[in-house]
Amino acid sequence: MADLSTSFLGIHSPNPFWLASAPPTDKAFNVYRAFEAGWGGAVWKTLGEDPPPVNACSRYSVHRDIQGKVLGINNIELITDRPLAVNLEEIRQTKKDWPDRALLVSLMVPCEESSWKSILTQVEDTGCDGVELNFGCPHGMPERGMGAAVGQVPDYIEMVTGWCKQHTHVPVIVKLTPNITDILMPAQAAMNAGADAVSLINTLSSISGIDLDTLSPYHAIDGQYTSGGYCGPAVKPIALNMVGQIARNPATATLPISAIGGISDWHDAAEFIALGAGTVQVCTAAMLNGFKIIGDMTDGLSRWMDSKGYRTIDEFRGKAVPKLTDWKYLNLNYKTVAHIDQNTCIHCGRCFAACEDTAHQAVSMTPLPDNLHQTQYTIIDEECVGCNLCQITCPIPDCITMTEIDTGNSAINWTQHPANPFREQ
Ligand SMILES: Cc1cc2nc3c(=O)[nH]c(=O)nc-3n(C[C@H](O)[C@H](O)[C@H](O)COP(=O)(O)O)c2cc1C
Repeated sequence: MADLSTSFLGIHSPNPFWLASAPPTDKAFNVYRAFEAGWGGAVWKTLGEDPPPVNACSRYSVHRDIQGKVLGINNIELITDRPLAVNLEEIRQTKKDWPDRALLVSLMVPCEESSWKSILTQVEDTGCDGVELNFGCPHGMPERGMGAAVGQVPDYIEMVTGWCKQHTHVPVIVKLTPNITDILMPAQAAMNAGADAVSLINTLSSISGIDLDTLSPYHAIDGQYTSGGYCGPAVKPIALNMVGQIARNPATATLPISAIGGISDWHDAAEFIALGAGTVQVCTAAMLNGFKIIGDMTDGLSRWMDSKGYRTIDEFRGKAVPKLTDWKYLNLNYKTVAHIDQNTCIHCGRCFAACEDTAHQAVSMTPLPDNLHQTQYTIIDEECVGCNLCQITCPIPDCITMTEIDTGNSAINWTQHPANPFREQ
């Protein structure tokens, strides 16, 4: 059986699955249940200074697809609303009772060195394995000069991370906000200040929808609404990209990453690890399904690793990173065309509508010779640009496949292409 055990910044956990700082890690009761279920670690719900903040009611709203499946949830919850001393005592006891699990503590205090120094001293005293600096919360806390208000300004990240590195001995992970234009800038700032790792992503600013009866965003709070943080399956591609950019950029490539964002099953986790993540953190999937999903996650990951011959997480970690490149280095002579399997086609015409109306008019529509009431769809190879749209719209798995065509031309990228006036000679 594959070995899922992980050592991240010297912090050991039996598997790479940590619970992200959020309601699932708000108190010892939850964290004990999570560890009993098999989670490898937890990042305690963000602690701040006393008095704790007061939360609004309600806090969560949802974005569903047309079938009702949750694409993402939006929240306006603040950091922990429990007193600091209560949290610290529970963290101390939890680490004592679960020495083999990773237990980190998320922190957010005002942008003053004395505040950070004070909380770090208290938190380190609990025996926790590390701290995560919450520079990502996009709602409520930025209005008070914390969370994303720090994470959106690389100079502030560098300053606060620098204080934290100075005032604690435990590893410091900087949690980044995705609500920025270029993830490399905050990552670089964290690195400049000596951060031991980054974790990403925190939630994306969002409004889940407008109630068309009341014409108010939902869920309004006494008739008013404020933007919240979006997370869950829909944010995974954004998180994958940001993790990938940090992993492939030569300046940040050595920065360890704890990946977060839409991780719902072992496939998602394996993808983030292939992009270089050392551990993965989960919030929404646990909130929607309960802690027992960890069984399928560890089981699935270890079976997949066995099937591929990977004995340890490190054997496939980062293996997808060299495959990320800039657009200008893609081979412009690589060609694929679509192929429709007539045996599985249900003649719905979605590929035709998509291609005819919005793409390259590369799907032909002809009556079936033996059934004039039904239509046969076939690809016109010469018109097909291999955009994949027909495959994407097709409701039948594997009915439309993309086939590589040998053009007989050797590989050429944009930097070498005759159409590029600035090409390398
Ligand atoms: C209700 C809720 C509360 C959260 N509270 C915190 C928090 O206190 N500190 C923090 O760093 N992140 C917080 N997060 C963000 C999560 O830790 C995580 O970064 C985000 O939800 C993306 O992961 P997911 O797609 O698995 O949910 C919260 C998320 C939710 C849904």
